[in-house]
Amino acid sequence: MNKQATFQEQYGPWAVVAGASEGLGAAYADQLAQKGLNLVLIARREAMLVKLSGGLVEKYGIQVRILTLDLSQPDSTENIVQKTRDLEIGLLIYNAASSVVGPFLEHSIDEHLKEIETNVRAPLVLTHHFCGQMLARGRGGVVLMSSLSAFQGSAFIANYAATKAFNILLAEGLWEEWRNSGIDVMACVAGATSTPKYKASNPKQTGRFSDATLEPEVVVREALNALGKQPFVIPGKLNRFSSFIMRHILPRKVAIQMMGNILRNMYT
Ligand SMILES: NC(=O)c1ccc[n+]([C@@H]2O[C@H](COP(=O)([O-])OP(=O)(O)OC[C@H]3O[C@@H](n4cnc5c(N)ncnc54)[C@H](OP(=O)(O)O)[C@@H]3O)[C@@H](O)[C@H]2O)c1
Repeated sequence: MNKQATFQEQYGPWAVVAGASEGLGAAYADQLAQKGLNLVLIARREAMLVKLSGGLVEKYGIQVRILTLDLSQPDSTENIVQKTRDLEIGLLIYNAASSVVGPFLEHSIDEHLKEIETNVRAPLVLTHHFCGQMLARGRGGVVLMSSLSAFQGSAFIANYAATKAFNILLAEGLWEEWRNSGIDVMACVAGATSTPKYKASNPKQTGRFSDATLEPEVVVREALNALGKQPFVIPGKLNRFSSFIMRHILPRKVAIQMMGNILRNMYT
């Protein structure tokens, strides 16, 4: 059996990509379409979804459904549930994120709560909903996007990093819980990735750290290759190396300070 047929059988016929209009989400959409999956594409900017969808339909002959909505709004997840009822969803990619960058108190509590809605509540609800159906079928997968900032407290993105830690632990717990049920759950713990959002955050270049910046296509390829094999993946050799040092060699207090210094140089 060829690799593509196996991927489709395990994760098809439809995948949901939440946060699909550009960057990593658009790269997921492209690589999943290439593997023959039909796609539900979700984001706030409809014109970008329409353009992406047109290209994918033309290039790969797949079907696409577009849902234009804001995942920070509590009713968005119920909307997704209703508008995908007639589809067999075999894969959920939760990619969208709200990220508040800068000193903690310079942002309102509403901005921080929006991070919780988008990065914690929505992936939790969608995982609960779609995995219920996948479990009944005995096959399927989930990728929750996380960040290297989530392996320790991260100054200047403290709440964002905490929401991303939630995603790692949720994925790891469910990976173990469903290991023998045919459902593959995985956190993709990305380092700096050259997406429009990352570039717009205007990070100052910080020597070795910026050398590790990856293209979205590379991150997505490594994530999809790892799905079904492990509870989390860290794309990029340099990211794996630096993360190993930060998690297993340095005392946690030193790792927190090191991450703080990197982010202080980047964002203040
Ligand atoms: N880029 C990096 O350096 C990096 C590093 C580590 C981890 N990550 C993680 O990778 C994921 C993707 O990051 P990214 O840099 O590509 O940027 P992002 O802004 O987090 O995600 C981009 C996609 O999500 C959509 N989106 C964002 N907020 C949304 C909302 N409230 N409702 C609906 N859609 C929403 C955006 O489309 P619309 O604006 O059209 O809605 C866009 O398509 C995130 O989970 C992030 O935490 C990124």
